[in-house]
Amino acid sequence: MKLSENIMGVQHLGIPTADLSGSVVWYEENLGFQKFYEKTVWSDGKLNAAFLKLKDLVIELYEQAGSGQEILSRGDGILDHYAIDAPDFDNCCQRAEAKGLRFHASTPKGAVRYENIGPKGVRGANYVGPNQEVIELCHNCSINYGYRTGLQGWSHLAIKVSNLQASISFYENLGFSKAGEGYLDTPDGRLYIGFVDNHGFQLELIQLTGAGLEKLKSRGNGRIDHVALSVKDAKEAFYEAKKSGCHVLDLFLKELPFFEHGIRYFTILGPDGEKIELNQIRSW
Ligand SMILES: [Fe+2]
Ligand SMILES: [Fe+2]
Repeated sequence: MKLSENIMGVQHLGIPTADLSGSVVWYEENLGFQKFYEKTVWSDGKLNAAFLKLKDLVIELYEQAGSGQEILSRGDGILDHYAIDAPDFDNCCQRAEAKGLRFHASTPKGAVRYENIGPKGVRGANYVGPNQEVIELCHNCSINYGYRTGLQGWSHLAIKVSNLQASISFYENLGFSKAGEGYLDTPDGRLYIGFVDNHGFQLELIQLTGAGLEKLKSRGNGRIDHVALSVKDAKEAFYEAKKSGCHVLDLFLKELPFFEHGIRYFTILGPDGEKIELNQIRSW
């Protein structure tokens, strides 16, 4: 089975934390996430992990013993921000601000309209999460949200890239297909953007230029550490990833006793070094 046939869309977003219980409370109280699983395991030392969901958006918050300082010292990463769909955008932003959420420096005055993304533009406001991760509330003006109100789970995950074409090709090999495009004019120059989709999960690939492109090289692992994609069969995906020349980080397929029957997973690197976990939740 090719990797593209094995991958079944997004599974979770991995966010490391130095304060697991505080982060869980922050997500529950401020954005309406619900914790549905929590476990302490031994993996390179003590690892506490909690899984939370907001409709189809699952985040894995994890605290690795001894890595607090490293986590706190991380800056913005190649995985730049994640975005939650907000049909009644103004209300959602007002509620976030009433809860005391702070704007991220990328949208210092709050809501911005991106005229040239998608057919009818996009509205977004970037907020700072409990681990300094960037969380966008996003309203895509091309989507008919009907009467839905409140935060709706996944909108997209944004990745800053050095070569848009190379990134699109890489994700096409993982079964993504092109779903839209746009551009953004910035002081650095025009940033071209491509959207790719896998089973309803969208990546926003942002081609950097100028000083931003230079800085990308030193971004490394950021506050959003990895994105996990679901696979039907992790063993086969591991074999295929190695065979097709992917940069596989792990020597062996890893296992953790999460959920009822455990998970099997491994990590590959995308074209700019972004971490992509391929993960199978076992059903037996
Ligand atoms: Fe993960
Ligand atoms: Fe975005």
